[in-house]
Amino acid sequence: MPHSDSRFSVLSEGFATDPYRHFGRLRQGAPVHYEPAIDSYFLSRHDDVKRVLTDHEAFTTETLQVRAEPVMRGPVLAQMTGAEHTAKRKIVVRAFTGAALQDQMRAVHANAADLLAPFLARGRIDLVNDFGKPLAVHVTLDVLGLDRKDWRQVAAWHSGVAEFITSLALTPERRRHCLDCAEQLEAYLVPVIEQRRRHPGDDLISKLCTAEFDGVAMSNREVTALIINVLAAATEPADKTLALLFKHLIDHPEQLTEVRRDLGLLPAAIAETLRYTPPVQLIPRQAKESAVFAGTAVPAGATVFCMIGAANRDPGAFAAPDTFDIHRPDLGTARSFTAAAQHMAFGTGLHQCVGAAFARAEIDTVAAMLLPLLDEVRYSPGFRYRETGLYTRGPVSLSLDFAPVHAFSPDRRPHVGPGVLPA
Ligand code: HEM
Repeated sequence: MPHSDSRFSVLSEGFATDPYRHFGRLRQGAPVHYEPAIDSYFLSRHDDVKRVLTDHEAFTTETLQVRAEPVMRGPVLAQMTGAEHTAKRKIVVRAFTGAALQDQMRAVHANAADLLAPFLARGRIDLVNDFGKPLAVHVTLDVLGLDRKDWRQVAAWHSGVAEFITSLALTPERRRHCLDCAEQLEAYLVPVIEQRRRHPGDDLISKLCTAEFDGVAMSNREVTALIINVLAAATEPADKTLALLFKHLIDHPEQLTEVRRDLGLLPAAIAETLRYTPPVQLIPRQAKESAVFAGTAVPAGATVFCMIGAANRDPGAFAAPDTFDIHRPDLGTARSFTAAAQHMAFGTGLHQCVGAAFARAEIDTVAAMLLPLLDEVRYSPGFRYRETGLYTRGPVSLSLDFAPVHAFSPDRRPHVGPGVLPA
């Protein structure tokens, strides 16, 4: 029988306020927690999560047909398997790695400088709402080849799409709103797709339009789904990670001083941020056959949620897991952004994040620009830190004060840590 503890629910307010407080108890007492209201199982141990994400035969992504496809307007990468998955994943990977990455980081740096400029003389910025969120959307629109002036509209549609995917329970009204957002986003994208078919450029949409799978070009529906897939996957986790990185460094001033002195430590600080507070907290799968975890059976067909935040704090995988330590020897910076990562912030196995190298370079570039500018950075007076989200989780805002900067002429060449960009 599953551990269904009627006194505890991952849907409770107490859990939503601070899930990290409950992870230890879940891993020890209820590593297979059953949530009757949504008929789903929650796994919290590192080994169990790894098993689910790497045993693709036993745990499928079929659940995404109802969890994602209605708002993606077609099948997403995570639903695909075999040759189709390999071929389409490769198109997306190529757009975010290798030589393309170098140009993209120049654009990231320029975007970040433009967004930051109006706040410097004031000496105050909300790193989430003034900067991180618009930046992540701008950067993704640039890579896709969409017009940056449309960012507010695209961000509003995107938030409806994201709400659909990341809500564990939706009211019929919210569901309708999310589907409306997805339909409007699709109506905005289809004319762009048709234009890129006629006049392809260097952007990802053009690459998706001109690529062939089994000698056949992808339909508008397939291209739309992959665009929304990238838009949804690339924006939220990146802006949350940047804000969380700054929060952890401000909370650990000695580590902030070290990183300021040596920006080469940034990739280690980003990797530790991803382990300590992964922005993607849940990854869903469906059990093909019944399976046993820690002596508890999960029935065939069940929805299983991998709890990434809990797995990343498992003492079986990391020493002193509740301590933020950019020097921890059991993480390994270089492998933290690859398939060999010990933390599971990017997932693992076949569907591991295609944007890991891009995310590392993006956050490194932006943080290396911000740190020297935000001298004496600290929380604004009266600021109260609050996080939200069960599926994706991050700060609601991060109001920071710093020594005002009156003369700002951004160096157009981004600093990027060693090994971040290709030679
Ligand atoms: C810190 C930033 C990021 C984090 C923490 C993150 C996290 C994740 C996670 C946990 C998964 C696995 C989902 C699963 O197994 O079902 C994933 C998949 C994916 N991510 Fe990311 N992501 C980040 C940035 C990005 C960026 C910048 C892109 C841009 C391309 C991206 C694109 C994707 C795509 C397309 C997938 C699906 C891959 C597949 O199914 O083959 N992500 N990401």
